[in-house]
Amino acid sequence: MRLDEGEQITKTPPHSHSRERFVATHLEQISDESKTALTLSESHSSPRDDYFAIVARATNDAVRDWNVKSGALSWPQGFDSLLGYDGSSTECDIGFWQKNVHPGDCARIAPSIRDALVGTSAHWSGEYRFRRADGTYINVLERSLILRAADGTPERLIGSLMDVTARKQLQDQLCRSQKMEAFGQLAGGVAHDFNNFLTTILGYGDLLLHERQIKGTLADHVTEIRAAAARASALTQQLLAFSRRQPLEPVIVEVNSIITNLERSLLRLIGENISVVCHLHHEKEGAHIKADPSQITQIILNLAVNARDAMPTGGQLTLETAIVDLTKETESPFQCGDFVPGEYVLINISDTGIGMNDEAKVHLFEPFFTTKADRERSGLGLATCYGIVHQSGGHLRVESEQGKGTTVQIYLPRVPAPPPPSYKRPTGKKPRGGTET
Ligand SMILES: Nc1ncnc2c1ncn2[C@@H]1O[C@H](COP(=O)(O)OP(=O)(O)OP(=O)(O)O)[C@@H](O)[C@H]1O
Ligand SMILES: [Mg+2]
Repeated sequence: MRLDEGEQITKTPPHSHSRERFVATHLEQISDESKTALTLSESHSSPRDDYFAIVARATNDAVRDWNVKSGALSWPQGFDSLLGYDGSSTECDIGFWQKNVHPGDCARIAPSIRDALVGTSAHWSGEYRFRRADGTYINVLERSLILRAADGTPERLIGSLMDVTARKQLQDQLCRSQKMEAFGQLAGGVAHDFNNFLTTILGYGDLLLHERQIKGTLADHVTEIRAAAARASALTQQLLAFSRRQPLEPVIVEVNSIITNLERSLLRLIGENISVVCHLHHEKEGAHIKADPSQITQIILNLAVNARDAMPTGGQLTLETAIVDLTKETESPFQCGDFVPGEYVLINISDTGIGMNDEAKVHLFEPFFTTKADRERSGLGLATCYGIVHQSGGHLRVESEQGKGTTVQIYLPRVPAPPPPSYKRPTGKKPRGGTET
């Protein structure tokens, strides 16, 4: 439908069924017109050009038109440009849309649309993931109009699907950062106070053990109390590390030296059925970081233990070091923490183990999150790594696929190599007035 000569768009009744039909009919035109490129000059040339069609196209949204009665579905806009499907596709019923909504969102979206249709509402909106032709999912915000017959029966649902993937990612990133920050504050506060109590228990435990009257079973009981308090104290240290309140002793170290130094402990830790492969960088000037070497060692060992646990029947553990230039990155490539562009030293730890499911991927850095039944496990390994790496100005990234394995990447800011130790050439002169001893 085109507006007749001289007809004003403003003539359309503003709040009525006829206005909604007017919009819907104009959206239909887009599918025909989208085949013809509309130049800016064309759009300027005639004020009678289809205003709504142009506005719809300006949004870059996909538009779906579902005939609720017959089940027919057409895509007046964005089927190819946003969703990547071939315009000549024969998929033209609602089954196509249903098939491509993410299975995790279907159970929420389908009843919500059904409720809107059986009610009296003229609109429905919702956010869900939709599969593009290349198999990837985008997050869409659909805002739709429900056209009804005079008796209220729904006839058509016309929705515009806006790609909100980037916004959703940013939102998730912010939420995760805030959640980790809140966890850190809580854990740090509790750990700090708790540690004071434990120091008292440990101190008095020691005093009791040194009392002469405390012998035999009584002494054993006090030793048990002391040991439990010591374990609790180790736990609070991990919590303090997570909340970035642990005192670090940073020095400038070369990353390869850290890996080579812990080779032995690593081999002892992971057992015989796992092979270890190291790919260390060959940078001439070295790759230096400013960090507490004992803490970085602790992180790598934690990650190696996780890798071992993920490969109960054997596999391969790969350690890599490299320099990554993130100087030109304007947006943070990491999920949490403040990102400063620059050069980073990367330590990659990968295994060929069982990998993680989606739930584990979401929670893995949270303190006390563990999927291991073992009572000894506190679920603090990765939380500690998170705290130490962030306290050292770095970032962690995890990629994992179930059945294939996991890669944990530690990014630490690269720092210049320290100046070589000063070396004084012996002068050969005897110090004046000195005596040899
Ligand atoms: N390499 C890995 N492969 C598969 N899953 C992993 C891997 N690393 C961590 N995970 C998952 O993340 C969870 C949390 O790991 P984290 O190291 O924090 O705790 P944990 O290993 O369970 O216990 P703890 O480290 O305190 O002994 C694990 O329980 C596991 O589900
Ligand atoms: Mg662990």
